[in-house]
Amino acid sequence: IKKIGVLTSGGDAPGMNAAIRSVVRTCAYHNIKCYGIYRGYEGIIDGDFVEMGPRSVKGLINKGGTMLKSARSKTFRTKEGRQLAHDNLIKAGIEALVVIGGDGSFTGSMVFNEEYNFPVMGIPGTIDNDIFGTSHTLGYDTALNTVVEVIDKIRDTASSHNRLFFVEVMGRDAGHIALNVGIGAGAEEILIPEEDLGLERLLESLRRSKQSGKSSSIVVVAEGDKIGKNVFELKDYVEENMTEYEVRVSVLGHMQRGGPPSCFDRVLASRMGVKAVESLLEGKSNYMVGIKNDVMDLTPFDQAVKGKSKINKELLRVSDIMST
Ligand code: F6P
Repeated sequence: IKKIGVLTSGGDAPGMNAAIRSVVRTCAYHNIKCYGIYRGYEGIIDGDFVEMGPRSVKGLINKGGTMLKSARSKTFRTKEGRQLAHDNLIKAGIEALVVIGGDGSFTGSMVFNEEYNFPVMGIPGTIDNDIFGTSHTLGYDTALNTVVEVIDKIRDTASSHNRLFFVEVMGRDAGHIALNVGIGAGAEEILIPEEDLGLERLLESLRRSKQSGKSSSIVVVAEGDKIGKNVFELKDYVEENMTEYEVRVSVLGHMQRGGPPSCFDRVLASRMGVKAVESLLEGKSNYMVGIKNDVMDLTPFDQAVKGKSKINKELLRVSDIMST
């Protein structure tokens, strides 16, 4: 392999820039050319490539978002789109790809690899931490720290006004962010899709916490929670059934995806970039790079895409005990 392309796809996540930097510098270290591809798969279809060297990624390690921009490409889901993409890669002499993104991005890579036997290696980048085959995805640690900091601030208002706050956090269909920030920020209750607390138990728990002397409360709600009501309906429901609290809702939204990556994410991104490029050079393809017990690891794309990232049950118990 003499030329590798790198792209970011799906939702941006802190640490993606640090991963691009690592891929570019690892290529330079091994005397291989590296091309940045703009806007994910869309950029391959449009032939939107730029040659990158070690100096073109200076000052990038601490930047949130992705300098290569990201997109969720509809055209790449079609056979014609992938044909165009393949033609453009061949024309530019790009012989392998590093795809930084989530499971949707890896599904695209897998199909592309099946059709054209084109070498691809994935780096998991999403704040949701919902990918099988790695204990941490890029951006997850940063998002946890961002959210905990914000909930600490919300708590100032909650306790000054004796209020109950429902704080909705991202995570798509997974509750990793909610469960961890809930424990980290000392939430009274945590609602996640993996465990249905039920409306009655929620009320009971809030009443119990009031009776135990708590004047304010934070309930962290994962956006994918399946309690049957969204946060605003939850607020109405609790207000109708409990007079003890004045209730407010805070939906944190996209601020959770921004900001400089944490040190953990910077180091993880650097390690993943090295592993991805060196695995391609060893002739491996169709894998996602991951980290398990602080060791870099490879998981076949089909497993990474089909497998389920599981909630740590121990954390559920810890959160129960902590809300006593
Ligand atoms: O996958 C990352 C994520 O931020 C999810 O947590 C959220 O559900 C989704 O992306 C939001 O996507 P968009 O930015 O397209 O609204």
